[in-house]
Amino acid sequence: MLRDVAPAEVHRAVRPALAGLPKGRKLVFRARLDRWWDDLVEPLRRVYPRADSEALATALAVKAARAFAERPEELHALDLRRQLRPDWLQRSDMIGYAAYTERFAGDLRGVGERLPYLQELGVRYLHLMPLLKPRPGDNDGGYAVADYRSVREDLGDIEDLRSLATMLRENGVSLVLDLVLNHVAAEHKWAVRARAGEQRYRDYFYVYPDRARPDEFEATLPEVFPDFAPGNFTWDAELDGWVWTTFNAWQWDVNWSNPEVLAEYVDIVLFLANLGVEVVRLDAIAFLWKRAGTNCQNQPEVHDLTQVMRTVARLTCPALAFKAEAIVGPRDLVQYLGLGKHVGRVSDLAYHNSLMVQIWSMLAARNVVLARQALGSLPPIPPGSSWICYVRCHDDIGWAIDDGDAAAVGLNGHLHRMFLSDWYAGVMPDSWADGLVFQENPQTLDRRISGTSAALAGVSDSGRAGDGLDRFFLAHAIAWGWGGVPVIWSGDELAAPNDVGWASEAGHEGDNRWAHRPRLDPTRVADRHDTSTVAGQAFAMLVRLGRVRASLPQLHGGATPQVLWDTDHGVLAVVRRHPSGVFVGLYNVTGEWRPFPMDRLRALGLRAPLDALSGNVVTSGADGVIRLHPHAAWWVVEGAE
Ligand code: GLC
Repeated sequence: MLRDVAPAEVHRAVRPALAGLPKGRKLVFRARLDRWWDDLVEPLRRVYPRADSEALATALAVKAARAFAERPEELHALDLRRQLRPDWLQRSDMIGYAAYTERFAGDLRGVGERLPYLQELGVRYLHLMPLLKPRPGDNDGGYAVADYRSVREDLGDIEDLRSLATMLRENGVSLVLDLVLNHVAAEHKWAVRARAGEQRYRDYFYVYPDRARPDEFEATLPEVFPDFAPGNFTWDAELDGWVWTTFNAWQWDVNWSNPEVLAEYVDIVLFLANLGVEVVRLDAIAFLWKRAGTNCQNQPEVHDLTQVMRTVARLTCPALAFKAEAIVGPRDLVQYLGLGKHVGRVSDLAYHNSLMVQIWSMLAARNVVLARQALGSLPPIPPGSSWICYVRCHDDIGWAIDDGDAAAVGLNGHLHRMFLSDWYAGVMPDSWADGLVFQENPQTLDRRISGTSAALAGVSDSGRAGDGLDRFFLAHAIAWGWGGVPVIWSGDELAAPNDVGWASEAGHEGDNRWAHRPRLDPTRVADRHDTSTVAGQAFAMLVRLGRVRASLPQLHGGATPQVLWDTDHGVLAVVRRHPSGVFVGLYNVTGEWRPFPMDRLRALGLRAPLDALSGNVVTSGADGVIRLHPHAAWWVVEGAE
C-alpha cells in the first residue's frame, strides 16, 4: 500500500481546489504532494523559524492545487513530456538566444514572425528580456516591474504572450521570462499602498525611520550602481522612512523575511507557468536575503527560498525550469545549482559567470594559467543541472576573479582586474578591444565593461577583420564546448558592433549597457548568408558551432568538463568523458602557434583524433607534437569508425 507522506490535513486542505477534476488527475496531484511535501516544509522551517511552517506549506500547496486545476491541458501534456525527458535542457542540441522584444522584432507578434531566423541558428530556448509592465520612464530595461500580470503595452498583451508561448512550444522552442523578485517598481501597487500608509504593504519592504539601521548595513554593503544610484537606501517622504533600494532609487527591494511576500511570488510563478513560460530567470537572486554584517548576497536563505518556489512548481507545473541569475564570484556560484541539502532542489540552470570572465581574461592575457586554476577548482555541479554558457549578456562584465585563485598562480587579483578593465576599455596601446567603462568606483577602483562580443573581441567591419573574428569564434567555441545551454546575445550572431547611438534614447543616457543592446540591423540580417561580409562570417560560425554541437553527445550537460592542468600556458584543454566517447576542446588563446602533445590525446583514448569543427584530422609532427594555429579552437573527438 502506498503511504501518504503529506499529512492528512494537507490532503484535506487541497481537496476543494481539485474538486472538479477527473479522478486520474487528482491522483497525479496527490502523488506529487506526497513526493514533494518534505521539500516544501523543510526550507520553510529554516527560513521562518518563528512561523508555523506546516501552515505556510499547506497554504502554498492550496495555491499549487488551484493553479494545477487551472493549468491548460496542453501544459499538463508538456509536464508529462518533460518528466519523460528530464535532461531536455542538457542535450547538446539545446541553443539559446536572448533579446529585447522591441529591439529584435518590434513586438510579440514580430517575434513569432522571426521564428525561422532563430531556427537557422538552431535556437530551442528564447529568453525575451523583461516585458511585463514596467514603471513609466527609465525602468532599468524592464527590471522595474509595476505589474506582473500585464504586458508592456507597446509589445502586446497577455493574450499575445500566451499565443507566442504556444506557437514557440509547438515549434520546439521554450520561452524564458524574467521573474524579477528582488524588487518592484516604486509604482507597483504594493509600493503605492505602502506609501498610502497600509501597514500590510509597508511590511513588504524594508523601511527604516532613521539612518541607524541603514548605516549599519551600509558598512558592509557594496554599491551596484555607484555612478547613477549610489548607496542602498532611498529616503521617501510619503513613507516617512528610508527604503532599501539596492539598484535604482525607484526599484524597491521586497522583504523576503515576510512570508506573505513569498506567497505573492509563488502566485506570480504559477501565473507565468500557466501562460506557457517554460523557464523562469530568477533575476538578481543573490540579493534576496539581507543580513547585517555581510554584503547581503548569497545568504543560505536564498537557496531555501528558491527550494520553496521550485517545490511549489513541482506540484503544479513540473515542466517549469528555474534559472538563477547570480552574477557572483566563483566560490558562491555552484550553490545556485544546489550543493549539500539543496542538491536537485533549487535551480536547473545558472549563468556560468566565471567561465565568461575567464574567456575574456585568457584572450587579453594570452595565457590560460588563471583560467585553469579558477575553472579547474570549481566543484562539480549536481547531475541534472547545467550552466548557461555565454560570452556576454545584456549586462556589463564585472571581473569576478577570486583573489585566492589569482594568488594560487602568482597573480595579484586586484592588478589583474585593473589590467582587464584597461584592456577591454581599449586604453592599452596594443589592445584590440572597443569596450566602454561602466560604473567606475573611485573607492574600490573597480571598473566594469560594456560592449558587444564583436566589440570586445576586436572585430571590425572595416579593415582586416581576421584576428577579431578568430577571437570571436574562439570565445564562442569555448563557451559552446563547455556543456550546458549556450546563449547567443541578440546581435552577436551578426557580429554587431556597439550601438554608437546608445545614449540618444531618453532614460538611457547614463547607462552604457545600452551600447551592447543594439536593435537588430536589417542590413546585417540581409547579409547573413553572404560570407564576404563580417556579419555573414559570424553568422556562419555560430550556425556551424550549433550544428556540430548538436551532433556531439559528448556535449550533453551531464558530462563534467575537466580542465587539464599541465598544458602549454597558451592552450586551454577541456576534456569531457561521455559513454559515447571522449571530447577534448583545445583552445589556443594566443596569436602564435602553440604545442600540444599527441600522447595526451592517445592517453585519453583518441586513436584517430579529428577536429569536429573543421572536419580536419589532427596530426602531429615527427616529434609527436600537435601545433595549434593562432587562436585555434578545436573540438577533438575520435574520427575512426
Ligand atoms: C539583473 C539584471 C540587470 C538589472 C538588475 C536589477 O542583474 O540582469 O540588468 O539591472 O538585475 O534588476
